[in-house]
Amino acid sequence: MTTKNNNWQRETDAEGIVWLTIDLPGSSTNTLNREVLEELDGILAELEAQRPTGLVIQSAKSNFIVGADIKEFTRIETMEQARELIHRGQAVVNRLENLRCPTVALIHGFCLGGGLELALGCDYRVADDDQDTRLGLPEVRLGIHPGFGGVARLPRLVGATAAMDMMLTGRSLSARAASKIGLVDYAVPRRHLQRAARQLIKTQPPKRRAGRLSTLGDTALLRPLLARVLRKKVAARARPEHYPAPYALIDIWSEYGTDKPAVLEAEEQSVARLIVGDTARNLVRVFFLQERLKSLGDKKAFTPRRIHVIGGGVMGGDIAAWCALRGLQVTVQDRSDVHLARVMERAAKLFRKKLRKPRLIQQALDRLMPDRRGEGLAQADVVIEAIFENVEAKQNLYREIEPRMKPGALLATNTSSIPLQVLGEALSDPKRLVGLHFFNPVAKMQLVEIVTTADTNAEAATQAAAFTRHIDRLPLPVNSSPGFLVNRVLMPYLLEAVTLEAEGLAPKVIDAEALRFGMPMGPILLADTVGLDICLSVAEILSKELGVEVPARLRELVKAGRLGKKSGHGFYRYDKQGKPLGAKPGRGEYCPPDTQDRLISRLLNEALACLREGVVADADLLDAGIIFGTGFAPFRGGPMKYIEQTGREKLAAKMAELHKKYGDRFQADESWLPAPGRAE
Ligand code: NAI
Repeated sequence: MTTKNNNWQRETDAEGIVWLTIDLPGSSTNTLNREVLEELDGILAELEAQRPTGLVIQSAKSNFIVGADIKEFTRIETMEQARELIHRGQAVVNRLENLRCPTVALIHGFCLGGGLELALGCDYRVADDDQDTRLGLPEVRLGIHPGFGGVARLPRLVGATAAMDMMLTGRSLSARAASKIGLVDYAVPRRHLQRAARQLIKTQPPKRRAGRLSTLGDTALLRPLLARVLRKKVAARARPEHYPAPYALIDIWSEYGTDKPAVLEAEEQSVARLIVGDTARNLVRVFFLQERLKSLGDKKAFTPRRIHVIGGGVMGGDIAAWCALRGLQVTVQDRSDVHLARVMERAAKLFRKKLRKPRLIQQALDRLMPDRRGEGLAQADVVIEAIFENVEAKQNLYREIEPRMKPGALLATNTSSIPLQVLGEALSDPKRLVGLHFFNPVAKMQLVEIVTTADTNAEAATQAAAFTRHIDRLPLPVNSSPGFLVNRVLMPYLLEAVTLEAEGLAPKVIDAEALRFGMPMGPILLADTVGLDICLSVAEILSKELGVEVPARLRELVKAGRLGKKSGHGFYRYDKQGKPLGAKPGRGEYCPPDTQDRLISRLLNEALACLREGVVADADLLDAGIIFGTGFAPFRGGPMKYIEQTGREKLAAKMAELHKKYGDRFQADESWLPAPGRAE
């Protein structure tokens, strides 16, 4: 017998087992929205009366359940509303847990957040051992922690250490890893899933509980000690004033441990408080900004198969490797065999790290071909140029390759500063030239600026954006203006840090101020990592085009061969592993009180100028670009959001003060305050 409501389909088989299948209409994924939970609650109420042989919860889509519906978070205005939503989720999972028949979650694909918490309410869990299966509780990434009973149930099941690690990092596990820690009962091939579920229902083996060893520390006496260790670990990555959620989670566990009703109550209170706070609101916003960037590239619009990269240096080599990792057929051309050998070496390292399985690593290596003579050029759907940052060299190359390219192929440059109009002069069809500006390191930085001019062919821009989605990067359309968006906004901030250092402030003190603001890395360390020669060349372009001051100190260091991390010495010295020496701030070092303001004001000022000039289309895209291109404190929601939340007048007054004290590099952009008589 089959019954169906909007999101769930229920079928009872000959053995009396109820198969409950979630399948949200008109959506590619399943989420636990209000309606889904209400329907499930109703179904469970009926099953309480029917007492079936067993219940299996499964999904009709390629994923199990990806979590709560984040869109609903944005509609929450008060803590009371939040509590009501969380309470409803908890009540449904409790009802499932208390059902008087064996229950199994059949998991494949993503089983995340509320989805995993629902599965934790079942007696047993069976997961598809395919590599696409991922189980996790990523709530901390949205500034909250599990609220549908995850904090109460996971430590009992897998032990406090493994549970806290999953919840504090938001890391997800493969089915095998989940089975190793006891999170799932079986990890089996897809075709055996249903049989495994049936078997569990028939035999009803004892339910999984964390072993003695992993619950040793979980006593009222020991928990506070372990909690202290956990807090220290978290503090190395996130400050409580910036990211309160992991600390709140540790507090709950430390205080209530295995007292389930108390933990549930505390979860509800705590998540309700966090969800209406600035950090969670901004992180949720960042989530949607990411979705927006994703939507700017339509994979269906273009299916590239062969990629040819010219220039196997730092960038070209890593772009080529990344494309091969993502399944494309890649040739990489360089004049130097030594550089090509290095590309293959770095690629092998990347593949080993990301793919782990020898067979997959070998397949990726087979997709990447060193190509000294450029034989792959004529077959490529996308040609990416990443040679030296030199106009003449690039133009000469374009003259040579254009006639050999496949008709209709996309020509992209990774230039970080040369206007496309200039490069296009060497082409007979400059309309097909786009910028695909990747960031260093390619494997870590998700953003790719899609650079176009007023003349760029619309199809080429669409193809460029589609290509970035095929390689799982985020496209950001920007105008071909000096420094595009990210470097232009970042550079004044880096240069101010250089000026501060030239004034005598220790690099580690400057970096500590940026970390205090919430940057993931200080500007001095960032400049060293990017390379001081690269910083200088971008700064010089911005200086020529926009009058940005270049501190003499930067030129001096580059002249002295101190190029940063790559040369072992920049502002910091580096050990053999590339770790900076003396970068940890000590206690009580003097720092002028306006240091942070000087750094951040210059960044904000340039962001406003970019928006006014239309380098990007709107404030949201600007925030997205700066967060995903530079790592700008995500919990602050981006520069424009930060200006809005702190108050324009307040920040403009600060700019005026700095201008008076330090001169024209703090000249406020005209868009800080609306002109008299002009409405904002
Ligand atoms: P790099 O100096 O590491 O690599 C350049 C490579 O191109 C070298 O291996 C060289 O042998 C090769 N090459 C030069 N002329 C060639 C030609 N005619 N044919 C074939 N190979 C040739 O430079 P890097 O840092 O990788 O930069 C490349 C491009 O990427 C530049 O346009 C740069 O502005 C841009 N970029 C650099 C970033 C960085 O952080 N390094 C970030 C984003 C963009």
